[in-house]
Amino acid sequence: MPTESQSPYLPFGENKNASWYGKDILSVKQFNRADLEYIFGVAHEMRGMVERIGTFDLLKGKILANLFYEPSTRTSSSFTAAMERLGGSVIPINEVKYSSVTKGESLTDTVRTLECYADVIVLRHPETGSAAIAAKAAKKPVINAGDGIGEHPTQALLDTFTIMEELGRLDNLTVTMLGDLKYGRTVHSLARLLSLFKVKLNYVSPDILRMPKEVMDEVAAKGIPQAEYSTLEKVLPETDVLYVTRVQKERFEDPAEYEKVKGAYVIDPEIMKAAKQEMIVMHPLPRVTEISMDFDDDPRAAYFRQMEYGLYVRMALLAMVLGKA
Ligand code: CP
Repeated sequence: MPTESQSPYLPFGENKNASWYGKDILSVKQFNRADLEYIFGVAHEMRGMVERIGTFDLLKGKILANLFYEPSTRTSSSFTAAMERLGGSVIPINEVKYSSVTKGESLTDTVRTLECYADVIVLRHPETGSAAIAAKAAKKPVINAGDGIGEHPTQALLDTFTIMEELGRLDNLTVTMLGDLKYGRTVHSLARLLSLFKVKLNYVSPDILRMPKEVMDEVAAKGIPQAEYSTLEKVLPETDVLYVTRVQKERFEDPAEYEKVKGAYVIDPEIMKAAKQEMIVMHPLPRVTEISMDFDDDPRAAYFRQMEYGLYVRMALLAMVLGKA
């Protein structure tokens, strides 16, 4: 579990950036380095507050609508926990099948309904671009909690916060992304966000699950070195952050294609003998078989700590868009 420490970031109240009050959070393309420093500063303060007093009233009286059209454990429950830790409350719509969506109500009508009752809407939806459509319809801030195979910006923010808290820097790192890079929205957002820093990105995947050209082109335009591999062997020894992803069965149109690649990579203690001691293994979770449970007790296994960092980042984002940070 992370321990409280002196904040290496800007404290509350010293932000010279544009205000985030009332803004949507739809894509990592919205953020620059100064924004990240600010978010990490607020998240670090949130961590200290949770460790010291648990729950406090920064967002007392505010309401979050948590609208999930796809399954979620971490994103949904961490936004709920974040709002409740800040003294606010939550309208949970985690199973749209029990809402009027099943009667044919459109996404835009659903969002316009929820903003009558809530101050901020968190949306997960299976279609790329859905968060932007919802944001256009809504006057209240919309936070993208994953739009199909598009983006998962709050995940990338918590991923970069995890790297900062664990390794103390985002520059001069070799980050290796492993697994389903085609359908994995977390890696699409993370590669884009890391391109703000001096990093080297390695992509290891089966041929049919390679990082999309569109993402690689955007990252290349920032001057970031990138390389693609089909096996981990060559790049593991130089890796500072190994970001493992699940091969997502639910995204495959042809089940036979999934069967061909489902067990392509498994991280276990034996394989990790070739890695540095000063590095971390991350995963957005859920995992299936791609990281052996035998590795969980290794200090380099950061994926459970990563989830906890997500709480603090989501507390920071809610406070920011509701004008309290
Ligand atoms: N990392 C992530 O998005 O997990 P959930 O699908 O459980 O929200």
